[in-house]
Amino acid sequence: MELPLIPTNIILIDNLQNVLNGQFNNRVRSTGYQYEKYNNWEKIEAWTADIANENPGLVSRLQIGTTFEGRPMYLLKVGKPSANKKAIFMDCGFHAREWISPAFCQWFVREAVRTYGKETIMTQLLDNLDFYVLPVLNIDGYVYTWTNNRMWRKTRSVNAGSSCIGTDPNRNFNAGWCSVGASGRPCDDTFCGTKPESEKETKALADFIRGNLSTIKAYLTIHSYSQLLLYPYSYTYDVTKDNVELHAISKAAVKELATLHGTKYTYGPGASTIYPAAGGSDDWAYDQGIKYSFTFELRDTGRYGFVLPESQIKPTCEETLIAVKYIASYVLEHLY
Ligand code: ARG
Ligand code: ZN
Repeated sequence: MELPLIPTNIILIDNLQNVLNGQFNNRVRSTGYQYEKYNNWEKIEAWTADIANENPGLVSRLQIGTTFEGRPMYLLKVGKPSANKKAIFMDCGFHAREWISPAFCQWFVREAVRTYGKETIMTQLLDNLDFYVLPVLNIDGYVYTWTNNRMWRKTRSVNAGSSCIGTDPNRNFNAGWCSVGASGRPCDDTFCGTKPESEKETKALADFIRGNLSTIKAYLTIHSYSQLLLYPYSYTYDVTKDNVELHAISKAAVKELATLHGTKYTYGPGASTIYPAAGGSDDWAYDQGIKYSFTFELRDTGRYGFVLPESQIKPTCEETLIAVKYIASYVLEHLY
C-alpha cells in the first residue's frame, strides 16, 4: 500500500503508543549503568556521584546551582588534574524532550574514563584539558517529560500573571535577548522569560562560565534533532569575525562524524542554517569571548524526532563522540 504524504516528524505515526514504547529496548538487565538506555533523573543523579567516586583521579563533581523545583545541578569535571589547564564546557538537556542529549553527556564521560590511558587522543585530551560536563541543564523539565508530558521543552518555573509554566532556556541568555525567534508570551514554547537569566538554571550556567572565563576555551551545547552543527550567530544574520575558522572546523567535524555510520550533518551559522533565534547560550558564550562555540543537533532528521529509539543511542553517541573529540583536539592545538 502506498503511504500517504504526511510529515513524519509530528507524531502522526499511526500508533503513538508503539512509538513511545519503541524508545525503550527490552534487553536483559546487565550489571552496571545502562548507557544504551534512557535514564531518569534519579538514575542520572546517582550516576554523577558514582562515576566521580569510581574515578577519583579523573572525575570530580561540583554543584553549580539549584533548579526552580530545588534539584541540585551537578557538574562533572573530567580530566587529569594538573596546574593551569584550559577547559571545554559541554552541556546537555537544555530542552527537556531531547532525551538523546543527556544520553550523550553520560556516554561521553563513560568513554573518557573507559579509554583514558588506552586511546591516544582521549588520553592527550584529558592530560591537557578539562571537560566540564553538565549532564542535564533543565532537570525539572526532564523529570516532567518522564512523569507527565514526553514533549515538554521548557523549564518548569511559574510565570507571574499566567497559568502557563516555563521558559525556553535557550531563549533566556543575554544575546539579542527576545529580539527574534523567541516569544514574550509565557504560554509559548519559545518564551524568552521575563529578563535574561530569569531562570535559576540559565543563571547558574552563566555564572559558572563567567567565573571561569579565563580557562574555558570552547562551549558545546547538545540538542536534538536535525543532524546539524551550528555556530554563532543565531540572533543576527551577521557572521562572526571567526566565521571562516568556525566553518572549517565544522566541515571537518561533520566529515569525521560521517565516517562511522554515514550520518549526514549540515553545518553553518545558526541564523541561516536553522532559523534566527535570539537568547541562545551558544551566541552568549561566543560574545563572552569563547571563540569555539557550537550547538549540536543530534539524530535524527524527523522520523522519530525527539522520541529516538534506544537502539540508536549507541550509534548516535559513537559518531557524536568522534566529532566532539575532533573539535576538542582542534581547540587543544589552537589555544588562545
Ligand atoms: N534548536 C535550537 C533551539 O531552538 C537551535 C539553537 C541554535 N542556537 C541558537 N542560539 N538559536 O534552541
Ligand atoms: Zn533543543
